[in-house]
Amino acid sequence: MTRRIRKAVFPVAGLGTRFLPATKSVPKEMMPIIDRPLIQYAVDEAIEAGCDTLIFVTNRYKHAVADYFDKAYELEQKLEHAGKTAQLELVRYVLPSGVRAVFVTQAEALGLGHAVLCAKPVVGDEPFAVLLPDDLVWNQGPGALRQMADTAEVTGASVIAVEDVPKAKTGSYGIVATEDFSNRQGRIRAIVEKPDPVKAPSNLAVVGRYVLDPEIFALLENVEPGSGGEIQLTDAIAALLEKKPVLAYRFEGKRFDCGTHIGLIEATIEFALSHENLSGAAREIMQKALAR
Ligand code: UTP
Repeated sequence: MTRRIRKAVFPVAGLGTRFLPATKSVPKEMMPIIDRPLIQYAVDEAIEAGCDTLIFVTNRYKHAVADYFDKAYELEQKLEHAGKTAQLELVRYVLPSGVRAVFVTQAEALGLGHAVLCAKPVVGDEPFAVLLPDDLVWNQGPGALRQMADTAEVTGASVIAVEDVPKAKTGSYGIVATEDFSNRQGRIRAIVEKPDPVKAPSNLAVVGRYVLDPEIFALLENVEPGSGGEIQLTDAIAALLEKKPVLAYRFEGKRFDCGTHIGLIEATIEFALSHENLSGAAREIMQKALAR
């Protein structure tokens, strides 16, 4: 697996139950941090990593995601006539030219592994990325996926993003056991889904960025459904480890878990505080609120 990745899969067909009632009609991936939906941050990261084919795994409730990447003729015309060129650029270039969006359907929410498998006909037989947009990763230098794609290209291995979490939180993540780390990476020996802190092999948690060998599809096809009939990506990765090298990669950057209320709040605060036009006012509001 030494080719550069070109295709990125965005599984966005989950139910988003933690953000009900909002997610009754607004997909979780469309929740904004300031003025950009979560999906835009993930898409930008994939494009920066060199991807030109973006594959969205959606369902019938997620029209808003497809609409967002579609052309908005009427809106563009109105902005053009009003001479609002800055806003026009924002609307027109959610995707740069040369990048295409492909939509595939996951008819039933049968798990993240199943969602990734739905992208198989579009990905074909080449290494590809998976990004979970509710994990927002910010880095001043190259994005997390770019760092991982570079590593995958050099090593020919699959690469999975990890970060250190407090031992008490291992039960919320996939946790990996690795050989020694050098230069941010280590070969994964084992991966366990949501282990009890006492049983966790480490405190290295998998977060929502993957560069995967296409062999994963055959393995996903053979994964036994777990609780709720869900097909877990972790199970297929566990099988992949037996066949091919898979690296854990401790990326440079900060991750916000925007699949949780507090993570979304944290990201909003951090982005507001570093926003070129909003930081002063945001700081003032926060200071006043904290002084109460
Ligand atoms: P989550 O575990 O965060 O589930 O899925 P969720 O449904 O999105 O949210 P909650 O837990 O109910 O609040 C992780 C990722 O996998 C996708 C989700 O859209 C999210 O990006 N996913 C999950 C699918 O695309 N299909 C599925 O069947 C399950």
